[in-house]
Amino acid sequence: MKRILSIIMLIVAVACSSTDDIDLNAQTVDGGKTLVVYYSFTNNVRTIVGELSKQISADVVEVEPAEEGLDYAANNYEIGSSLIAAIREHPNDAASYPAIKPVSVDFSRYDNVIVAAPLWWSQMAAPMQSFLFKFGKELSGKKIGLIVSSSSTGISAVVGDAKRLIVGGQFVEPNLWIRSSQVKNAADMISKWLVQTGFNKSENSAETMRIKVSDGTKSVTFELNATSAAKSLYSMLPMEVAVENYGGNEKIFYPTQTVAHGSDCIEGDCPVGTLALFSPWGNVVMYYGAASRYSGLYILGHAIDGTQKIKDLTGTIKVEAVGTTGITEINAREEQRGFTVYTLDGRRVVAEADSLTGLPSGVYVVNGKKQVVR
Ligand SMILES: Cc1cc2nc3c(=O)[nH]c(=O)nc-3n(C[C@H](O)[C@H](O)[C@H](O)COP(=O)(O)O)c2cc1C
Repeated sequence: MKRILSIIMLIVAVACSSTDDIDLNAQTVDGGKTLVVYYSFTNNVRTIVGELSKQISADVVEVEPAEEGLDYAANNYEIGSSLIAAIREHPNDAASYPAIKPVSVDFSRYDNVIVAAPLWWSQMAAPMQSFLFKFGKELSGKKIGLIVSSSSTGISAVVGDAKRLIVGGQFVEPNLWIRSSQVKNAADMISKWLVQTGFNKSENSAETMRIKVSDGTKSVTFELNATSAAKSLYSMLPMEVAVENYGGNEKIFYPTQTVAHGSDCIEGDCPVGTLALFSPWGNVVMYYGAASRYSGLYILGHAIDGTQKIKDLTGTIKVEAVGTTGITEINAREEQRGFTVYTLDGRRVVAEADSLTGLPSGVYVVNGKKQVVR
């Protein structure tokens, strides 16, 4: 009797679940960093990702169509349906996919990727398909979680799109299907799904230390490792110091205080973009040409943005901690290439800016989005 009862309970649990493709032997995530990639037209998926970001620490990148202001739902979904039809007809032709705004993500930094997209005419929304057509290969071998929102249509064809576009992706099951009517109260569904898939155990990237080094016009962002020397440097920020040339492959600076270093510090070869502490002299080194391992040269981290600008840094540099996760950070990276900065009331502050460094504290509008300068 007990056995029959548990079977009935299992059937009821599966039937009531808001996820599909449930596989009780599903592969789950057991660590590593997570990237969330999403597209949203009417904000349902954006709301879902907002809730997701409250529950796990992950970097988030938004996919945006290159052509702004299109109403995909107008005239009985005319534009949306023709975009999907074009992809369905020629799925292997790049020309079938609508252009998206450039995205700069270093995929090698992530072990897990959560793809969140709306369903359009049973398929994955076209802009997200464009993103995956372009970058799907870079997601090969990674753990992939899929979140789909639709009004009512089941998501199996969207799962098919994801698997077609991310060849070699290690798809974690179940997929999470959130109907439009469930979005406002999706917190519970999301937290259950994170536990089911193991994404709740992914590495807490909020603890990752990142620093920006800027001379006012050029900037480089480094991600630090977790060694005592990196933590010591991070704890003394912000600082303004002189940057100097050294050895034809390094830019160096002397921090305002002594960087403490313990036995956990790592010596090793220093490829381009490496940030290191040369402990005998106490200076920090930014490599724009590779260097070999050297006694007392401890690796602090590596550049994740602006590597090619290291060799052009001059004069006084500001070294500061930067935010660690979130939409603003990844988008800001993309936007830091010749953008115009406006005040909230629409006054132009800078044309073709390279960074927001040096602006007075306040809220600015960059590429239609608010950016805070602290
Ligand atoms: C072009 C287009 C086609 C859609 N097709 C379907 C569909 O076939 N079935 C369905 O249930 N919902 C469909 N929807 C509704 C969306 O999947 C749903 O509202 C989703 O929650 C939207 O997410 P978003 O707000 O993040 O864009 C469609 C929406 C659009 C814009």
